[in-house]
Amino acid sequence: MIIGGKRLVGDVFISGAKNAAVAVIPATILVEGTCRIENIPSIDDVTVIVDLLKYLGAKVKFTDKHTLEINCEKLKGFSPPHDMVRKLRASYYLIGALLGRFNHAEVPPPGGCNFGTRPIDMHIKGFEALGAKVNIDKGIVEAHATKLNSAQIFLDLVSVGATINIMLAAVRAEGTTIIENAAKEPHVVDVANFLNAMGANVKGAGTDIIKIKGVEKMTGGTYTIIPDQIEAGTFMIAAAATAGDIVVRNVIPKHLESISAKLVEMNAVVEEYDDSIRVTRNLPLQKANIKTLPYPGFPTDLQPQIVALLSVAQGTSIITENVWDNRFQYIDELRRFGAKINVDGKVAVIEGVESLSGAPVKATDLRAGASMVIAALMAKGMTEIHELRHIDRGYENLEQKLRALGAQIVRRESEETDIVGEVI
Ligand code: EPU
Repeated sequence: MIIGGKRLVGDVFISGAKNAAVAVIPATILVEGTCRIENIPSIDDVTVIVDLLKYLGAKVKFTDKHTLEINCEKLKGFSPPHDMVRKLRASYYLIGALLGRFNHAEVPPPGGCNFGTRPIDMHIKGFEALGAKVNIDKGIVEAHATKLNSAQIFLDLVSVGATINIMLAAVRAEGTTIIENAAKEPHVVDVANFLNAMGANVKGAGTDIIKIKGVEKMTGGTYTIIPDQIEAGTFMIAAAATAGDIVVRNVIPKHLESISAKLVEMNAVVEEYDDSIRVTRNLPLQKANIKTLPYPGFPTDLQPQIVALLSVAQGTSIITENVWDNRFQYIDELRRFGAKINVDGKVAVIEGVESLSGAPVKATDLRAGASMVIAALMAKGMTEIHELRHIDRGYENLEQKLRALGAQIVRRESEETDIVGEVI
């Protein structure tokens, strides 16, 4: 439950990046030795991917809440079970990692948030270019190679998952693989840095062209995950939403430039320091037009949160969702607060209203859940957010962090069944 209208003031520490952690953890499959990974976010998606590795026979130990030691030397399986794989999107990285280590993987197609079709055709195209035969039969993606070779692969679309998955499969293949039109997201760079710290030879991550020179063996080491760009952006939006004053700490300001620019356009003040960003706002929120794009463009994973903010900005804003076909499902929930938003295909037109009113709503997926939280923080009166399990997949201690900033927010376990979930 959230009672809106409180200014959020204070410091918040950002956790490790979800989308880096859920790739780095399966990437340890490629390593014969112990990988020590620091700054792991304490979120449900990490729990699931760790359980998947344990199922495959990895030795996994949390030395503290945010530090993992993983040893995959004695992995004994190629085939994780359906029910576990379906819990998250990132389980597709098991295909690239198992293929890269053993030339063989049998993995059911991944699950994750539902925003239209989420194909993995470019991942498969990449594996095939590396010399694997890939069959999808009885709901299992089976990839097999006698030996993986290097290849030059042009991605038709910029895809985070395909870029990382091809890197995983190629890192121990013979020769130099080149990925063109690669994704440049901070977590793509993080995975490349992790692989290099473990003994790989990956160059160019963060640009359009990544070159992966295959190595025979990777032997382990220590690596620290980068801060979560999307969690940081969510708190920056929360500061602007509540006319607050938040110092968002443990961030890489460069990763947040597209968000800072939009918040400034909307009348917030953003000050950048070495590893923190302060967001304040005194003036009324102004409309803005936003197009989501691959990095360094405005991230699709902050689109639902910024739409909540724009719903009370002066004027009419236009949001174009260029990454996912169907990422506006949550807008029905925002309308329950009184937001005036029309959706036509990939475009949402938001007519700013004076204020929102608290309502019972549900988190329809992870970032949609964060959008409900932003709306609730601004709304007059009380909001109940149901189906918090989506938020728990990707935000560490969201309600504790918000409460420490002054939000009136309470989570209580629901007496009802899982379908309703808990209530903040
Ligand atoms: N696409 C294809 N074929 C493919 C792969 C992708 O057509 O083989 C299309 C997708 O349908 C989409 C576009 O390419 O239209 C981009 O998809 P991408 O592969 O980049 O997405 P992803 O790797 O599945 C990751 C994040 C998402 C984030 C997107 C875009 C992880 C685990 N997930 O997904 O994060 O929205 O990149 O940045 O890294 C989230 O954290 O809430 C989340 C959904």
